[in-house]
Amino acid sequence: MSFETITLEKKGKIGYLTLNRPKVFNAVNAQLISEFGEALNEVEKDDDIWVLIITGAGKAFQAGADISELVKMTPLELHEWNHDMLENWRTIERLKKPVIAAINGYALGGGLELAISCDIRVASENARMGTPEVGLGIIPGTGGTQRLPRLLGKGAAMELLLTGEAIDAHEAYRIGLVNKVVPEGQAVAAAEEIANKIIKNGPLAVMLAKDAVEVGEELPLDAAVEYGHKNILLCQSSEDAKEGLTAFLEKRSPQWKRK
Ligand code: CAA
Repeated sequence: MSFETITLEKKGKIGYLTLNRPKVFNAVNAQLISEFGEALNEVEKDDDIWVLIITGAGKAFQAGADISELVKMTPLELHEWNHDMLENWRTIERLKKPVIAAINGYALGGGLELAISCDIRVASENARMGTPEVGLGIIPGTGGTQRLPRLLGKGAAMELLLTGEAIDAHEAYRIGLVNKVVPEGQAVAAAEEIANKIIKNGPLAVMLAKDAVEVGEELPLDAAVEYGHKNILLCQSSEDAKEGLTAFLEKRSPQWKRK
């Protein structure tokens, strides 16, 4: 499948989804939203992709919604546009494989909302992140007001959301917005390093661990712990669990079958 606003590639067991409108800092337009959704579906169906890395072409990860489209929208049009973006971000969270954001530059507005829907974030030193929407007289429309407090706690999230100021990569690391900061140009390589560590593990176990966190986060603790326990029973019933446990006892590397 070929796309105009994104690219989707595969190397080994890693998929690479690159936002590709570098002239406008990969700002999101309607075509990008739709192509992004199609690419996620492709990734989900592709058993050869075990980890997905999302990054941006050029200087930015993503500078948010395309303001030249946003300015013309009626509330109903905005509702439709945001709905499709929200669906995409939710698909990332529900994807049966880990997703790593390699933040190589600006991640602003919708761009940051995309990054915080990913499971893990690495940022290059030149990256700047924020939610500038209030300065435009609007508010983050695709989950930022909800995911930022869940990720950072209310105080740090409020500061980002209410000041609209962008922070640098080191401050983002300090407040827990990104997992790692690396030199400029190294974000994808750092994401690959994490991806390769994940790929060594049982893919079904990785899938069920992600699922336990994603679903459990929304539940009261008792129900969440119970849900996580059901996932370990599911794991235990897999061929991969037998293989992983036996390989440890036989002092060899496991051969995963994803079964
Ligand atoms: N939408 C449309 N065009 C954008 C854009 C955006 N979000 N971000 C950058 N561009 C365009 C600029 O208009 C400019 O185009 P021209 O060359 O045709 O003039 C080009 O990209 C380069 O931008 P700058 O000249 O501004 O470059 P800079 O280096 O001085 O600044 C920047 C870079 C800090 C990213 C700045 O462009 C900027 O602040 N962009 C807007 C960021 C923003 O406010 N994002 C939130 C959007 S609203 C949103 O995302 C809501 C939602 O969830 C739905």
